[in-house]
Amino acid sequence: MSKTVNGFSKLTKFEKIEWLVSNFFNNDVKVEQTLMQYWNSNEILQNLHDDFIENTISNYYLPFAIAPNFIINGTPYTIPMAIEESSVVAAASLVAKFWSTRGGFKTKVISTAKIGQVHFMYEGDKLQLTTYFNSKIDNFYKVTGEITKNMRKRGGGILDIELRDKTGELENYYQLHITFETADSMGANFINSCLEAIASEFENDTIQIVMSILSNYVPECLVHAEVSCKVDDLYAENSKMFAHKFVQAIQIANTEPHRAVTHNKGIMNGVDAVVIATGNDFRAIEAGVHAFASRSGKYRSLTNATIEKGIFRFWIDIPLALGTVGGLTSLHPLSKLSLNLLGNPSAKELMQIVAVAGLAQNFAALRALTTMGIQKGHMKMHLTNIIKQLGASDEEKQFLINYFENRTVTHNAVVEAYQKLIQTN
Ligand code: MEV
Repeated sequence: MSKTVNGFSKLTKFEKIEWLVSNFFNNDVKVEQTLMQYWNSNEILQNLHDDFIENTISNYYLPFAIAPNFIINGTPYTIPMAIEESSVVAAASLVAKFWSTRGGFKTKVISTAKIGQVHFMYEGDKLQLTTYFNSKIDNFYKVTGEITKNMRKRGGGILDIELRDKTGELENYYQLHITFETADSMGANFINSCLEAIASEFENDTIQIVMSILSNYVPECLVHAEVSCKVDDLYAENSKMFAHKFVQAIQIANTEPHRAVTHNKGIMNGVDAVVIATGNDFRAIEAGVHAFASRSGKYRSLTNATIEKGIFRFWIDIPLALGTVGGLTSLHPLSKLSLNLLGNPSAKELMQIVAVAGLAQNFAALRALTTMGIQKGHMKMHLTNIIKQLGASDEEKQFLINYFENRTVTHNAVVEAYQKLIQTN
């Protein structure tokens, strides 16, 4: 029995599970069964998933859903979403329908540039460094020529290479700050390969390269999405009051970071779900988005809203470095299907769709929060999860759903109702 192991990655999948179950689960066969019941019976498909990462022992499912009725720049979309949170897809669908009768979503890509940096230390004379840098620029393009060849054909490549003096912030620290256009790919491998080639070309006895890596801070890879309508068309009960409170909710998120984080988290419910469904890197997106939300020095809302001359306008500007070719996008069958469903969009089109999914989630959250509160809807959606945990039959489940139609759902209330039900049966 050992909770540490050498050469683990070389064991077969069965051996890995055996090691795990004997060392951490007291040889409980149920653990083995749980892991194996998520294996796909199609061996080729399972092998594909096994090879995405190292030491795969099972698959971790997320629900894959679709939210129809999004109208974006006049075109209808059904948006794929992979997410576990119960209310997100329901909210997306409701909001899509709501805005589909009010002109739909309008979007535009503002910019698509991405950044990579070669970080290095240099102790000598800055003028000499600048002269050396200038003498190398042509070579930088030459040594990356092979790597950028295909990308250039697709309209991408290296847009700019700049020497930046950072010695005011850290002694001897300089960087090559390089701007890229990566067309329809997210471009992480492309950027990193270019950076490493440039770093090798640049390095000499006086220049010590520390690292070369793309930045996930992408404020120049920005997309805008918005909705607008007459205030009177907004909300059946009291449109003016609703619009006013909605704008106030955003002002609060712009003023108060505690609220802004939750406000933006709700936006990311929609963003991440589409990012994951389309095989993109949600960690990169998250990191970039939250850094962007802090760009003023204070963490703020990603969305904005105004009421002017009786018109309610609600929008988001969000940095999204996405790809529709390369990476997992064409490897994972469901990502491929998702992109297909979206009409095989370009990266720019996908940026607009994802921004809309984020804006829609924020609309749903603020609409609920500033009117009936969030819990009623959330707990209604959560009801089926609680019922499942209790092991209720289909008949009992239907009874409980009807029972809670006009009652407040809490965990205790559901447990009590269920116990009463099984006692009387
Ligand atoms: C929950 O996942 C997201 C919300 O908290 C977002 C918000 O408060 O705006 C509902």
